[in-house]
Amino acid sequence: MSGIDSVLKETRLFPPSDEFRTNATVSGMDGYNALCDKATADYEGFWADLARSMLSWKKPFTQVLNQDNAPFFKWFEDGLINVSYNCIDRHLETKANKVAIIFEADDGSVTRVTYRELYHRVCQFANGLKSLGVTKGDRVVIYMPHTIEAVVAMQACARIGAIHSVVFGGFSAGALRDRIQDAQAKVVITANETVRGGKATPLKSITDEALGLGGCESVSKVIVFQRTSTKPEHWNEERNIWWHKLVKDQADTCEPEWVEAEHPLFILYTSGSTGKPKGIQHSSAGYLLGTQVTMKWVFDYKETDVYWCTADVGWITGHSYIAYGPLGIGATQVVFEGVPTYPDASRFWQMIEKHEVTTFYTAPTAIRSLIKLGGDLPKKYDLSSLRLLGTVGEPINPEAWMWYYEVVGGSRCPIVDTWWQTETGCNMIAPLPGAVATKPGSCTLPIPGIMADIVDESGAQVDLGKGGFLVVSKPWPSMVRNIWGDSERFKKTYFPEDYNGKLYLAGDSAHRDENGYIWIMGRIDDVLNVSGHRLGTMEIESALVANPLVAEAAVVGKPHDIKGESVVAYVVLKAARPEGEEAKRIAKELREWVAHEIGKIAQPDEIRFGDNLPKTRSGKIMRRLLRDIAKGLEITADTSTLENPAILEQLRQSAI
Ligand code: PRX
Repeated sequence: MSGIDSVLKETRLFPPSDEFRTNATVSGMDGYNALCDKATADYEGFWADLARSMLSWKKPFTQVLNQDNAPFFKWFEDGLINVSYNCIDRHLETKANKVAIIFEADDGSVTRVTYRELYHRVCQFANGLKSLGVTKGDRVVIYMPHTIEAVVAMQACARIGAIHSVVFGGFSAGALRDRIQDAQAKVVITANETVRGGKATPLKSITDEALGLGGCESVSKVIVFQRTSTKPEHWNEERNIWWHKLVKDQADTCEPEWVEAEHPLFILYTSGSTGKPKGIQHSSAGYLLGTQVTMKWVFDYKETDVYWCTADVGWITGHSYIAYGPLGIGATQVVFEGVPTYPDASRFWQMIEKHEVTTFYTAPTAIRSLIKLGGDLPKKYDLSSLRLLGTVGEPINPEAWMWYYEVVGGSRCPIVDTWWQTETGCNMIAPLPGAVATKPGSCTLPIPGIMADIVDESGAQVDLGKGGFLVVSKPWPSMVRNIWGDSERFKKTYFPEDYNGKLYLAGDSAHRDENGYIWIMGRIDDVLNVSGHRLGTMEIESALVANPLVAEAAVVGKPHDIKGESVVAYVVLKAARPEGEEAKRIAKELREWVAHEIGKIAQPDEIRFGDNLPKTRSGKIMRRLLRDIAKGLEITADTSTLENPAILEQLRQSAI
């Protein structure tokens, strides 16, 4: 592991202010340690108490953790619950008139929805789904703009026990088709268009294209939400139904379907190092519990908060910290359809002022791009409502952290740098803001009850300061339950034999500093993190070689100031290696091709053409060398095992 030994040495510590600490849910290190001690002394009792106090059960559970069929763990399995009931109905008695969602559209218009209104909307749509024959266990794909309706659609599925699979609105027809097919979805919910940054994308047409690609015979209906006045290109009377027509005559109450605690709430696809995206399957009760506990501890939720997470519901952050976490705890939250840079780079700051946001959760890539586009802009707005800031998705560099802390947070607000994953369901390593002093760039300490560790190849804990593999040594309630339809891959990926199937392998490398704080150093597999979004190099390579011009492709990541990582593709064409203008033209064509095959986020930033790729004599592509070339480094490694060492020089000079 010597290659990942860290060189970072950050010593600045930012303890919470006395005021913050005094008012925090978990106050001071004594509070934090007391919770950790409780979890160590009686792990199951610790989680059982939380599950009883934070969730509302139809039938209480008597069993806590079942490890009989490890690593297919079961939590609270004999309890009956409904997630939508927990997110909406249980608040109606005390806060029916509280605003649940402040929705700001791309064009700036604002709509407020109370818990009572949300309840009726969810019930009507749930009844609409039922009228189409959707029942418990059916899969529903949601391919929608980031709007109130996307949240309503997710909650309605949860209400009737249908399993949703949200596909990010930026994904292509091909990616959508793959997900519909893998999940064998019965219904797809989409919109005529999505509008972000003033630009419209025709989601309905892309859905038609996806269904036209074949393999989606499971789909019987496509529900279309009318987001704009633009008419869809085609309308299939049998398959398509408008959202507003579907809900028009539906009753506005709907008895929740009480499901077993382990009933799958959703599947969300994410990239792995090999093969097609994995359908990460989450449970109902354990998942919801993770979101509730972290809303309380990490986001230090207060009844008066106006909470805003800027993610899209297409990603896990939008699931746990928009669709479920804040609603479960009864918060008022902002849901924003647009992008941080439209109409200009002050949009976030303007919205924080306008909605008096107290808790703001965003991604380092957004912070970095906003620093670049207008580092002084936050000063023009009144951001004094803020009391807590958060980041997620990738490591934050200390300079960006300091700017966020000083310029946005007025040196007053703790920053919770939250490490977690699609698979973990909720924040895992993050400072509890009234307890743990923060350090720029470190996600600090595991939350109580999460047994995170850093180990070497043999599973032994590494010394402080040494790099190793980030693992979790005990199952936790909100963990991934399976890869949809692929239990073998689940076991191999997350509970590898190297550790006797006993440790959850996160896929990240990390180290601990002298305070025991955890620093995430990057992925250990061929997964890229571009603007906080996970992309498998394999997926992009497969997309490239599917182009008729391409014979072979290898994709690597390269550090990028704003996006964290950018995508570099090495391509061998079937025809001779192109040069000059022709190379530029083909590179542009291939970029557009990848955008069409997967989505814009996967587009290579750089394409280099070669006669072939650097391979060992056994035919393995030497990605390490390709990464060095992408970074512009001299190749100092021994290249004598290469079949074709001369190719390195050609690739080095092939930047276009
Ligand atoms: O590499 C880690 C990085 O994002 C990966 C998980 O990606 P995804 O499943 O798409 O979920 C992103 C949102 C939870 C991790 O394996 N990552 C996530 N949060 C952090 C992070 N890296 C460093 N610091 C973080 N706070």
